[in-house]
Amino acid sequence: MTILVHTRRAVVPTAFVTLALAAACSDAPFVPVDSTPALDAQLRQAIAPWGVVPILPVNAPDPALVSLGKMLFFDKVLSGNRDVSCGSCHSPATHTGDDASLAVGTGAAMIGGVRSLGAGRQFTPRNAPSLFSVGLKPFYMFWDGRVNEELGPGRFNTPFGSVLPSGVTSLLAAQAMIPVTNRVEMRGNAGDHDVFGNVNEIAQPADAQVTEIWTAVMHRLLAIPSYVQMFASAYPSISPDRLGFEHAANAIAAFETQTFTKTNTAFDRYLAHEDNALSLDAKRGALLFFTTARCASCHNGPLLGAQNFASVAVPQLGPGTGNAAPLDVGRGDETVSGPARFPKFFFRVAPLRNVELTAPYMHNGAYPTLEAVVRHYNNVDSAVKSYDVNQLPPSLRSTYHGDAATISALLASLDPRLQQPMQLTSEQQRQIVAFLKSLTDPSARDLAGIAPAAVPSGLPIP
Ligand code: HEC
Ligand code: HEC
Repeated sequence: MTILVHTRRAVVPTAFVTLALAAACSDAPFVPVDSTPALDAQLRQAIAPWGVVPILPVNAPDPALVSLGKMLFFDKVLSGNRDVSCGSCHSPATHTGDDASLAVGTGAAMIGGVRSLGAGRQFTPRNAPSLFSVGLKPFYMFWDGRVNEELGPGRFNTPFGSVLPSGVTSLLAAQAMIPVTNRVEMRGNAGDHDVFGNVNEIAQPADAQVTEIWTAVMHRLLAIPSYVQMFASAYPSISPDRLGFEHAANAIAAFETQTFTKTNTAFDRYLAHEDNALSLDAKRGALLFFTTARCASCHNGPLLGAQNFASVAVPQLGPGTGNAAPLDVGRGDETVSGPARFPKFFFRVAPLRNVELTAPYMHNGAYPTLEAVVRHYNNVDSAVKSYDVNQLPPSLRSTYHGDAATISALLASLDPRLQQPMQLTSEQQRQIVAFLKSLTDPSARDLAGIAPAAVPSGLPIP
C-alpha cells in the first residue's frame, strides 16, 4: 500500500504571515520561574524546524457582520425542525464542542439537559470539533479535510463544487453553507414537522438541490423584521432581494473568527520568547513532542495541525460514512477525495490549540481524556487491540467495530512512525499532557456570556 510522504517542512499558508508578527502579552499571570537555560536552548532548537509560530489575535471583523453572525449561530430557525442551532453542537457551555463522542442533530431528545439521540434518528458519524482554530485559516477543515483551498487561495473546495455561490468570502464561510443542508445535523427528513407542528419546508428539496435549501432558509430569515434590519446594516449595498445564504454564512464566519480565536496561550508566549511562560513539566513534554515522541512530525505548522493527513488507527465506532459505512475511512473514502488518492483511515492531523477543553478526542470521540490519547500513541497496537468500550457513553458501546477484520485493516493503515511502541514512561506521558495543556488560552475556559439573551426568531437558546 502507498503511504503518502509527509513533508518535514510545514507549508505555511500566507495568511499566517500577518499573524506571526509576535509580541509578548503583558497581562499574563506571573508563573514561578522554571527557566533552565540549557533546557530552553534545547527546546527552542527542537521547535525550530516545524514551522510553529506564535499566533496573535486576528483583525477584528466588521461589527455589523459579527452581530448578525452571532444571532444566526445561536438561532434554531436555521434548522428545518427549528430545534437545533450551530450553538447546540458547538456550545459555549462545552467550549465550542458538545462533550459527546458523536454529535446528535435534529430530533434530539433532551435527557437530563443533555442532547441525546431522538427516536428514529441516527448519530452524526463524527465528533463535533472545537471551533478555536477555525478563524486562523486552517488549510483543511473537517476531520476528512473535504473543505479546503487545495485548488488555490480563494478557490473554496467543498462538496458543492460550482454550485457554491460566488459571494462566499472565506473558507470558513464556505463551511457554514454545509450544516443547513445536512439532514442529520440541521435539515431533517422529508415528512418531518417542526417543534410547532408545521411542515418542515426546508427538508422538502432533494439532497442535490442545495440552492433551493439555502433559498428556503433565507426565506425564513427574511420573514423576521429584525433579521431584515441586521442584514441591511451588515450589507448596506445589497438589496434584500439579492441576499442569499452566502451572506448569512459570511456573517457566521465573522462571528466565529471574532469570538473563538483564543491564542493567548502559555506556549504562544513561550514562542514569543517569554522563557518563564512554560512550567518545567510542560517544557519536558514539549521536548518529547518535538523530538523523540515525533508528535511534531505530524502536528506542525502554526496550528500544530490542519495541513496534513495520516492514519493513527483510531478505533472505529458509530454509523460510519461514505462508501465504507458502517466504517469511517476518513479522507480515504472515494466520495471525499476521488479514487485511491488516500489510503483508508487517513484523517486530518488535528490542530491542537485549546485541545484540553474539548474532550472527547479523535474524529469519533473514541478517547475521553488526553491521557488516553497519549496512551494510544505510546503503543497503538495494544491500544487498538485492547480498546475498552466502557470509556464510551452507553448508547455508543454497541456501535464499536471491534471485529478482527476491522482491527487488522486499521493496524495495516497505521503510519510507520507509530508502528513501534514508544516506551514512554508514565512520567513522560504526564509531561506530554502538561505540554498539551500549555496550549490553552485561559480566556477560553469560560465562554459563558457569549450566547445572546434572545435571538430574533424567539426560539429558545440553547
Ligand atoms: C448536529 C451537530 C452540529 C451542528 C448543528 C453543527 N455542527 Fe459544525 N460540526 C459538527 C460535526 C460532527 C463536525 C465534523 C464533521 C466532519 O468532520 O465530517 C462539524 C464541523 C464543523 C466545523 C469544522 C471545524 C474544523 O476544525 O474542521 C465548523 C467550522 C463548524 N462545524 C461550524 C458549524 C456552524 C457554523 C454550524 C451552523 C451553521 C454548525 N457547525 C452546525 C456538528 C455540528
Ligand atoms: C502520524 C501522524 C501523527 C503523529 C505521529 C501524531 N499524531 Fe496526533 N493526530 C494525528 C491525526 C491524523 C489525528 C486525528 C485522528 C483521528 O481522529 O482519527 C490526531 C489527533 C490527535 C489528538 C486529538 C485532537 C482532538 O481534537 O480530538 C491529539 C490530542 C493528538 N493527536 C496529540 C498527539 C500527540 C501528543 C502525539 C505524539 C505523542 C501525536 N499526536 C502524534 C496525527 C498524528
